[in-house]
Amino acid sequence: MLTLKLFIILSPLVTFSKAIRIYPATREGLIWYNSSDPNSYAGYVSEIDDLLNQQNRIMNWSPCMSSSSYSFSSTNTGPCIFFSFPEKLKETPESYNSTTLPANAPDYLHSYIIGLEADRVRKTHNLAYITCNGTSPADEENIGPLHFLRNLEISILPYSALTTFTEDVIAVYFEKPMRYIVINVTCKIWANFKTLEDFEASVVTFDLLID
Ligand SMILES: *[C@@H]1O[C@H](CO)[C@@H](O)[C@H](O)[C@H]1NC(C)=O
Ligand SMILES: *[C@@H]1O[C@H](CO)[C@@H](O)[C@H](O)[C@H]1NC(C)=O
Ligand SMILES: *[C@@H]1O[C@H](CO)[C@@H](O)[C@H](O)[C@H]1NC(C)=O
Ligand SMILES: *[C@@H]1O[C@H](CO)[C@@H](O)[C@H](O)[C@H]1NC(C)=O
Repeated sequence: MLTLKLFIILSPLVTFSKAIRIYPATREGLIWYNSSDPNSYAGYVSEIDDLLNQQNRIMNWSPCMSSSSYSFSSTNTGPCIFFSFPEKLKETPESYNSTTLPANAPDYLHSYIIGLEADRVRKTHNLAYITCNGTSPADEENIGPLHFLRNLEISILPYSALTTFTEDVIAVYFEKPMRYIVINVTCKIWANFKTLEDFEASVVTFDLLID
C-alpha cells in the first residue's frame, strides 16, 4: 500500500484509471464547496492547476481560468469541472458524424456536429464529444445551462502505457446550477466504443453541492 502511494505521488502520469477522471476528484462521489469560503475550494483549485500544468499544449480555457479560481469563487455562477479520458481502452473508438450519432444523443450535440461539418475547415473525423445532464428529471431542472469547452481528439487518446503520455482534457462550465441542493450529474463521452468495457468507462456520475 505504501509503495503504491509513493508510486502515485512520484509518477502522476503513469497511474491508470479505467473510467473518465474528474478534476477536482470527488470525495465519495461528491464535489461540495461554499463559494464564499475560499478554504472550501482551495484544494479543488490547486488540483485543477496541477492538471493543467501537466499539459504540453497551451489552451484557452476562458471562462475556466485559474485567475478566477475556475469559477469556484463565483457567488452567482457555478464551477468549471474538468475531465480526462480513461487511459486504458481496449480498442480505438470511432468518431461519430451527424449520420452515425445515436438518436438518443442530445439535440444540441446533433446540431453542433452538423455545424462542424458545414464548416469545412474543421475536421470531425477524429473527435469525441462530452455532454452532461442532470441524472434524474429533478436534477435536470436544477443543473442549469452548461458550456462544453473543446472536444477530445481520438487520435491522441491513450491506448497503452506510454510513459510520455499527457492526458487530453476537456472542461464543462456550469453556468447557473441551483445552490444548497445536491445535483446528481451524468457526463458521457460520445464516440463509437468497440467494447462494452470501453463504453461503460465513457460514462461518469457525481454529485455537486454548492453553498
Ligand atoms: C447519482 O445517481 C445515480 C443513479 O441514480 C446513483 O447510482 C448514484 O449513487 C448517485 N450519486 C453519485 C455520487 O453517483
Ligand atoms: C459560506 O461561507 C460564508 C463565509 O465564511 C459563511 O458566512 C456562510 O455561512 C457559509 N455558508 C454555508 C451554507 O455554510
Ligand atoms: C458518416 O460516416 C458514415 C460511415 O463512415 C458515412 O457513410 C457517412 O457518409 C458519413 N456522413 C457524413 C455526413 O459525413
Ligand atoms: C441524461 O443523459 C443520460 C445519458 O445520455 C440519459 O440516459 C438520461 O435519461 C438523461 N437524463 C435526463 C433527465 O434527461
